[in-house]
Amino acid sequence: MTTATLFDPIRLGDLELANRIVMAPMTRSRAGDGDVPTELMMEYYRQRAGAGLIITEGTQPSASGKGYIRTPGIHSEAQIAGWRRVTDAVHAEGGQIVLQIMHCGRVGSLLNKAPGTETIAPSAIRAKGEIVTDKGMIPFDEPRAIELSEIPKLIEEFAQAARNAIAAGFDGVELHCTSGYLPAQFLSSGSNRRTDDYGGSAANRIRLAAETIEAMVAAVGEGRVGFRICPGNPFNDIWDDNPTETYGALLERLSSLNLAYCHLIDVANPQLDSLVLVRRKWRGNLILNEGLTRALAEQLLAKGVASAFSFGRPFIANPDLPFRLKSNAALAQFDASTLYTPGPRGYIDYSMIEQTKG
Ligand SMILES: Cc1cc2nc3c(=O)[nH]c(=O)nc-3n(C[C@H](O)[C@H](O)[C@H](O)COP(=O)(O)O)c2cc1C
Repeated sequence: MTTATLFDPIRLGDLELANRIVMAPMTRSRAGDGDVPTELMMEYYRQRAGAGLIITEGTQPSASGKGYIRTPGIHSEAQIAGWRRVTDAVHAEGGQIVLQIMHCGRVGSLLNKAPGTETIAPSAIRAKGEIVTDKGMIPFDEPRAIELSEIPKLIEEFAQAARNAIAAGFDGVELHCTSGYLPAQFLSSGSNRRTDDYGGSAANRIRLAAETIEAMVAAVGEGRVGFRICPGNPFNDIWDDNPTETYGALLERLSSLNLAYCHLIDVANPQLDSLVLVRRKWRGNLILNEGLTRALAEQLLAKGVASAFSFGRPFIANPDLPFRLKSNAALAQFDASTLYTPGPRGYIDYSMIEQTKG
């Protein structure tokens, strides 16, 4: 039996990772006018191309899907062209990059969105909480419940976003199904009070996420599609009466597709042990996240728990994280005050101890 290390390559569907260290998706609010990826974003991702796979920040499939300030989209020609420069830069460094598609649903404010957009959700239930806007923190919008007749068009927006991502040079796409955004709003009994085929039973609440992933697969191929979950995650005022049942049903349905991966945020939750659930119900590649160190990831790899491991916060101040982990170098700490501020500070000015190329 060979013992693979974190630094060995692995194939996940159509994705060819040079190592098993994945950069987790992180919103950094540096997009430009028209929600177009900028030169700064190109440099930020280029610096981190030593990851076996980069998963980008959450990116809206439509103007109405935007939640947070200065987040990028993948629904206009200018956005596709902006992302093309990012993917070219990452590929030139030998990296692979997947676009995270994130529709915020009710977690948003019209103040952050283009004119003519709206805030939709499975049900007209406002999430408790506030969101940052140019006018300061304000409560989330009261959403409009999407009509049954509008759901095919909504799903098509995700499929088109996946096509646009491939046109922009991405190696794949990941559907964001957690943290209280639209797919999670449908999955969870607290935010989904629908009485049609998309609400009620677990089989109905998983339908939107499952049909969206199936449409993305039809658009770009199963080996280029992954999805991210965190069963029972209460973030953004989400509650599910029985996440074991809901996510068990989702994982069973998606296991019949040959997807690139399931990306699990494994956090302690009194309702369930997500890792146990995923290992029982998911029959594909697994990327594991949350609070990992080299030692922890190595232990989990040795036990065969996951195929690859994603790191979020450590990548912020350590652009050459895989090199640092391999050489057991010290890790720098990030400045929390510049996480979401415009401009280069706290974004592309963290130092490398490795020269990535040449
Ligand atoms: C600044 C910041 C922004 C984040 N944005 C996203 C996002 O856009 N999409 C997402 O799925 N997770 C997002 N996350 C969660 C991370 O992907 C990851 O799950 C989290 O940081 C835990 O991993 P870690 O312990 O390695 O940092 C974000 C986290 C941080 C710190």
